[in-house]
Amino acid sequence: MIVLGIETSCDETAVALIRDGDAVLASKLYSQAELHAAYGGVVPEVASRDHLRKLPPLAEETLAAAGRGWDALDAVAVTIGPGLIGPLLVGVAYAKGVALARGVPLVGVNHLAAHLFAHRLAYPDVPPPFLGLIVSGGHTLLVHVADWGAYRVVGSTRDDAAGEALDKFGRLVGLGYPAGPKIDELAAAGDPGAIPFPRPMIESGLDMSFSGLKTAAVYRVRDHGNEPLADLCASYLQAVAEVLAEKAVRAAQRLEVRDIAVVGGVAASRRLREVLTTRAAQRHLDAHFPPPELCTDNAAVIGACGHHRLVQHPKGDGLRITPDPGLALDTSSG
Ligand code: KG4
Ligand code: ZN
Repeated sequence: MIVLGIETSCDETAVALIRDGDAVLASKLYSQAELHAAYGGVVPEVASRDHLRKLPPLAEETLAAAGRGWDALDAVAVTIGPGLIGPLLVGVAYAKGVALARGVPLVGVNHLAAHLFAHRLAYPDVPPPFLGLIVSGGHTLLVHVADWGAYRVVGSTRDDAAGEALDKFGRLVGLGYPAGPKIDELAAAGDPGAIPFPRPMIESGLDMSFSGLKTAAVYRVRDHGNEPLADLCASYLQAVAEVLAEKAVRAAQRLEVRDIAVVGGVAASRRLREVLTTRAAQRHLDAHFPPPELCTDNAAVIGACGHHRLVQHPKGDGLRITPDPGLALDTSSG
């Protein structure tokens, strides 16, 4: 079965062609980051208009890259949430058009469940049950994945997402948007112990909080002036990584699972990989990180997640699917 995956929930226009749920025939991505950089974050209306311009040609490019035509499609999978309503509407409307024109099933995909499928694409030999750590620009979730499609959120951030905390810090120190990759790069040359940033809520529980960390950074920069940027980045990222690592390891131990699957844009961070891999190993757990291109937003994971949903519901969800900006991750997510 060949599935066309479509992702437009935020500022990445992405299309992929997936065969049988695990073979990525082609995966194309157009990032709007430059378009939004001037504003320091994603402007929803600008994002919608750009998806509208870029999605149709990107779909053609994806098919061409796979050496297939429109007649190759057996189904269409599209992100229906969570995300920005305008951008989601563009993807869903386009997906409906393709499904209707080709007479193939259409499935709506939960963006958070799709992030988990990065682990399935990268590590087919490490199946559920495991602890999923979804760390992106909009979400920070600890998820008990009992099986594919059986998700239970066991912890989450009470305020900012981890990626948001990085992006806001980046804006503070003038790194532009999105700042995560640059902070990670600069951190490699800095001292993670140089500045004693707090580790909010690290002592107990599975919930997290990152907004206080950002405030601590604001005061630090105001009161201490010209500290080396590499040290600031290394120390700040270390605080974020230690909180995420501690919570993930604690959750895995409580749930009595051995494997931790880390996905979402922040999972691309080299520092987070080092910290979490070490902490997991100390407690005889294994942390798995997909390659960066599967961690950040992409359509290969949408196609893979959609395929799984189609295996369970061969007729798909029908043309009535509608975007839901606040869609939660639960057992109906597929
Ligand atoms: O999953 P994603 O691409 O989009 C959302 O669904 O939000 O995640 C984007 C987030 C941004 O906050 C970005 O700064 C962060 O992931 N990010 C990184 C890295 N690459 C992306 N953070 C740290 N290190 C990276 N290498
Ligand atoms: Zn995402």
